[in-house]
Amino acid sequence: MEPLTPPPPLAEPAVRIDSHLEGADERSLADDVLDGLTRPFKELPPKHFYDERGAELFDRICELPEYYPTRAERSILQEQAEELARLTGASELVELGSGTAAKTRVLLDALHEAGTLVRYVPVDVTEQMVRACAEELTEEYPGLQVHGVIGDFERHLDRVPPAVGRRVVAFLGGTIGNFPPGSRRRVLRQIRRLLGPSDYLLMGTDLVKDPEVLEAAYDDPQGVTAEFNRNVLRVLNRELDAGFDPQDFDHVALFDRQHEWIEMRLRARRAHTTLVRALDLPVRFEAGEEMRTEISAKFTHQRLAGDLSAAGLQLVRWLTDPEQLFALSLSRRVAS
Ligand code: AVJ
Repeated sequence: MEPLTPPPPLAEPAVRIDSHLEGADERSLADDVLDGLTRPFKELPPKHFYDERGAELFDRICELPEYYPTRAERSILQEQAEELARLTGASELVELGSGTAAKTRVLLDALHEAGTLVRYVPVDVTEQMVRACAEELTEEYPGLQVHGVIGDFERHLDRVPPAVGRRVVAFLGGTIGNFPPGSRRRVLRQIRRLLGPSDYLLMGTDLVKDPEVLEAAYDDPQGVTAEFNRNVLRVLNRELDAGFDPQDFDHVALFDRQHEWIEMRLRARRAHTTLVRALDLPVRFEAGEEMRTEISAKFTHQRLAGDLSAAGLQLVRWLTDPEQLFALSLSRRVAS
């Protein structure tokens, strides 16, 4: 028998992961708690929901019959992936908040089929997920390079490596809706800096609709969303040695018609004071006092076009599902 010739060494390893967190994450939690829990109207940013348990609860939310966004977005992607691949001719997919990259595969498949795909750049705070998904994807797509960036897309977008050919930046799931209008436009401007003149942003946004449908999606009868909401208290207990009893709080979700966003809050069932030991901070809640834990903005075509244009981006495609529940938008830099 002929001896097997070893394969030639690859010029570049298929997987590379750069981490930019190093304790910065805990700092940002402490800052957010100091800042948010000492105000007259208490507030915590939603990014702290997603520890391991929070990510699991979010996955369960996505399976709930009431929570339509994930299914609606996936169906639009499935319907349009081929056209998106053709239109963009992308060799690189950068994904912000990639998570387990479940929906991403639809896009990667289409780009792979089109023969243009070279590199996938997932950007996410959860290193474990990025590593696991990089291993899987390089097996599924032979020849694919994966360059993971572990970081916070509010702070580390400048660490995304220079583009390899034409790039699509995907920001799926409606996560842009978590940002209030001012920081939303700031995030979009940061994203714009990742785009060259022939690159695209592909973004998912939930749409304005009947408030009952919206509120049901954020207040399911099984109480999964309520547990997800209370999970932020467990994160504070663990990371900052706080003394919250999650059962001291009720889950509240309501559609704010004026701002056109869903607000999630935690409402104290009784008056009490909790010590956040790591910060030496006593936090007082009156009975019935509410703390805001998330806004999730709902969009119209007009509002999105406005936000994009304020960030130097222009809408080139607006794709929705037949029921107009959710939209995927494709945009590019305004020529300057
Ligand atoms: C992951 C931010 C898009 O706002 O719908 C789900 C999070 N919160 N149920 C959303 C969430 C409550 C979700 N995003």
